[in-house]
Amino acid sequence: MVKTIEWVNGKVVMLDQTRLPIEVVYIECADYHQVAEGIKKLWIRGAPAIGIAAAMGIALAAQDIQASSGDALLKGLEPAFAELLATRPTAVNIQWAVNRFRAFIDKHKNETAAELKSLLIREAQLVLDEDIEINKAIGFWGAQLIKDGDTILTHCNAGSLATGGYGTATAPMRVAKEQGKQISVIADETRPVLQGARLTAWELMEDGIPVTLISDNTAGAIMQKGEINLAIVGTDRTVLNGDVANKIGTYSVAVLCKEHGIPFYVAAPMSSIDFSTPSGDLIPIEERSPEEVTHIFGTCRIAPEGVRVRNLAFDVTPAKYVTAIITEKGIFRPSDLKKLADPSADINRLRIEVRP
Ligand code: MRU
Repeated sequence: MVKTIEWVNGKVVMLDQTRLPIEVVYIECADYHQVAEGIKKLWIRGAPAIGIAAAMGIALAAQDIQASSGDALLKGLEPAFAELLATRPTAVNIQWAVNRFRAFIDKHKNETAAELKSLLIREAQLVLDEDIEINKAIGFWGAQLIKDGDTILTHCNAGSLATGGYGTATAPMRVAKEQGKQISVIADETRPVLQGARLTAWELMEDGIPVTLISDNTAGAIMQKGEINLAIVGTDRTVLNGDVANKIGTYSVAVLCKEHGIPFYVAAPMSSIDFSTPSGDLIPIEERSPEEVTHIFGTCRIAPEGVRVRNLAFDVTPAKYVTAIITEKGIFRPSDLKKLADPSADINRLRIEVRP
């Protein structure tokens, strides 16, 4: 399985996903500014992956700070927190990483600054390792929703490339395959950045999972023909009322699923659930440059010069279209997220039981 991001000899090494599938090129980031640039320019993308990149960026930033105490180190990290948070607003995972590191430094503030700096590197690597385990747990639960012979629609890329490894939406597919189920995947191409065509199709082929690529506007027609059994997508931020922000076009897929009676599942690690935002209309939606729409690969113009463009990178699918949310803790109804927010909630009672 391809490596998205790694900490190697004091540097953050990330796969440049803008060049896939043509070239496999890794970029070494020696400081946090480069990590922030990589997130902004989509060298690394996908909510969990940019959370991991932010964690590693923070650990990198800490190494260059002259501080005599944990408090001074935390203060010195504020510009790095701000720069990383300003890169991409929709995924909650960068905020999640910043919160985790603030709490971690606070907990270890009595260590020497030198000790704390090496602890931060270990913590960033732990974020990566934990992410892979979380995805495997999502796979364990989600595979119960997949039957032998199923065809699964997915949108954008919520695979290994979007995470530390294994993927979120792809995890149930991987586990189903490991269980010997014959499955196949339909990947939406995902205009305008083509994560489905360039990334999902590529990584599933690399891993031997049968995949068929379709243009985005084909999804409805093949649902109508009865060729899709279920849809599984990822999320950049799922909020308290169960509304789901994900790649632009996800909402259309969800509405089509409802019309055709196809279950629509969202694979969401707990790090992508924002319990502090009550509803989807409050999620900041990133708007990206018009060139992503007017040009292919930044070089080939496909629209008239000067045309007005809207380039929303994400949309919000209202909870009523979401059949269930697959997390590392189990499968839940979107309407039960409010209960899940309570740390004393009985998870076993909230979990949806899937009958084989
Ligand atoms: O703009 P991107 O490529 O970062 O968008 C990615 C997505 O929308 C993914 O579906 C989402 O981040 C979940 S990744 C596990």
